[in-house]
Amino acid sequence: MTVSVRDVAALAGVSVGTVSNVLNRPEKVADETVERVRGAIAQLGFVRNDAARQLRAGSSRSVGLIVLDVGNPFFTDLARGAEDRAARFGLSVLLGNSDENPARESAYLDLFEAQQVTGVLISPLDDASQRIERLRARGIPTVLVDRRADTSRYSSVSVDDVLGARLAIEHLAAVGCAHVAFVGGPQHIRQVSDRLAGARSAATGSGIRLEIIDTDSLTVLQGRRAGNSIGQRPAADRPDGVFAANDLLALGVLQGLAATGIRVPDDVALIGYDDIEFASSASVSLSSVKQPARLIGEAALQLLLDEIDAGDRFEHRHVQFEPELVVRESTARVLRG
Ligand code: RIB
Repeated sequence: MTVSVRDVAALAGVSVGTVSNVLNRPEKVADETVERVRGAIAQLGFVRNDAARQLRAGSSRSVGLIVLDVGNPFFTDLARGAEDRAARFGLSVLLGNSDENPARESAYLDLFEAQQVTGVLISPLDDASQRIERLRARGIPTVLVDRRADTSRYSSVSVDDVLGARLAIEHLAAVGCAHVAFVGGPQHIRQVSDRLAGARSAATGSGIRLEIIDTDSLTVLQGRRAGNSIGQRPAADRPDGVFAANDLLALGVLQGLAATGIRVPDDVALIGYDDIEFASSASVSLSSVKQPARLIGEAALQLLLDEIDAGDRFEHRHVQFEPELVVRESTARVLRG
């Protein structure tokens, strides 16, 4: 069987980029690493074949991207940002949709490993560190998107979701809400748990009563069900504000409230999260907390390329963007003077 650059990288415990540097620019690599890689080359009998090596080093000239929900415009915007940056370097982006399902996420990671992609961007369901380490051992670097990594072993690009949720709740307090429902779930998804943590913190600081309406997923359908249940409550039990964990849920809540005759914002103020394109064009334009999805995708792809170029000497970074409150009709009324 032909020995590949990845085999050498795995045996030497370095990235494919480092093996490439040892072969092409050894002066840029620490002496100890050069010796270790050359030892692996000798032990495996690796034969440098420029055409094949170039292909292997560039692997499939593609990057694997795994998102939580391809039906969510937030992730399609993120994918667009990654793809625009990849195209500048002659790379393609292979899109995988985990659909918030661990088995599907694992299947895509297996597929990208088998395809020997140049690198992987992933918005992981849970802690994906073991799989990321396995990819790394095979010379495939990974960058977390929409999630801050808890380690310096790989990079990440995210938004401060705790701060973003604080902005949402403080805005609802500013327009006079006293009883707010947080609509979102499942809470094992870090984006949801961080937003709930921020909501709790801000509600305490603003003297707002916060109730939790858990959902099975972050979709319009789940939001519609939540809005319907809120709208059917007696007025005394009904919250006067809703913070939805993302815009798809918020758009569903808007539909569910409308179906039960509840007016937004007159009866219930409503704010979402992401500021997807449809937020501004909803029947009642939606206030939201903006995440720069395309910038997140671009920055993550660039971090991946920087790591491939730099090899083992790369210092991983955690890029964090600031959330931005966007006020529209759904919270524009002052509910209490
Ligand atoms: O997929 C869950 C949510 O997390 C998305 O709507 C987006 O807000 C991401 O950050």
